[in-house]
Amino acid sequence: MRPPPDFIHEFIPGTSGRTLLLLHGTGGNEHDLIPLGRELDSNAALLSPRGQILENGMPRFFRRLAEGVFDVEDLKQRTNELADFVINATERYEIDMKNIIAVGYSNGANIAASILLLRPEILRAAILFRAMVPLVPKNLPDLSSVRVWIGAGDQDPIIPTSETQRLAQLLRCAGADVTVRFANTDHGLTNAEVRTARHWLDGLKP
Ligand code: MLT
Repeated sequence: MRPPPDFIHEFIPGTSGRTLLLLHGTGGNEHDLIPLGRELDSNAALLSPRGQILENGMPRFFRRLAEGVFDVEDLKQRTNELADFVINATERYEIDMKNIIAVGYSNGANIAASILLLRPEILRAAILFRAMVPLVPKNLPDLSSVRVWIGAGDQDPIIPTSETQRLAQLLRCAGADVTVRFANTDHGLTNAEVRTARHWLDGLKP
C-alpha cells in the first residue's frame, strides 16, 4: 500500500480533546483559517492542511472543470488522500480520532462534505460555510451520529439557495442532524454568522 501523501499543514495544539480540521477556500493556504478556528473554539487543537491542486497558481483541494462543476474522479481520490492524512495526523499529534470537527469554507467546505459522504469515520461534526453538493455517492453512508451546520449566503452568486437545500437534504437522508442558516449576504463570510456557528459548536459536547 502506498503511504498517504503528506500535506503542507499547520498544527496548533489545544487544551481540550477537540480538533478542528480547517479547510480553506480556493486560493487560500494553511494559515488562512487559523484565526477563524480560534474564534470558533479557543481551546481546540487546529489542524490546517493546504490543498494540493493548483488552479492558475491558486491552491485547492480538488480539480474542477468549471466553477461549480467538479472533476468527480479527482474529488474521490483527493478526498481519500485527505482522509488518510488526517488519520496519519491523529498518530503524529496524538489527536482524538473521535473528536474531529471539520470547518470548511467554499472549496474546503465542499471537500469536507465529500469526506462526510465517502469517509464518514473521519468526522464527528462539520461546519460548512458556502458548501455545495460535492458528489452523490452510490451508497449513502450512515451519518446518524454526525452533526452538520451549514452557513449559506442568500445572495451568493456561486451557490443558489436550492443547492444549499439539496446538500442539507442529502446529508439528512444519510441520517445527519443538519442545521442550515442563511445569512443576508453573498459568498463572503460575515462576523454574525461566525458567531452563530460558534454558539452551535459551544452546544456540542466538548
Ligand atoms: C469549488 O470549486 O469548490 C466551488 O466552486 C467553490 C469555489 O472554490 O469557488
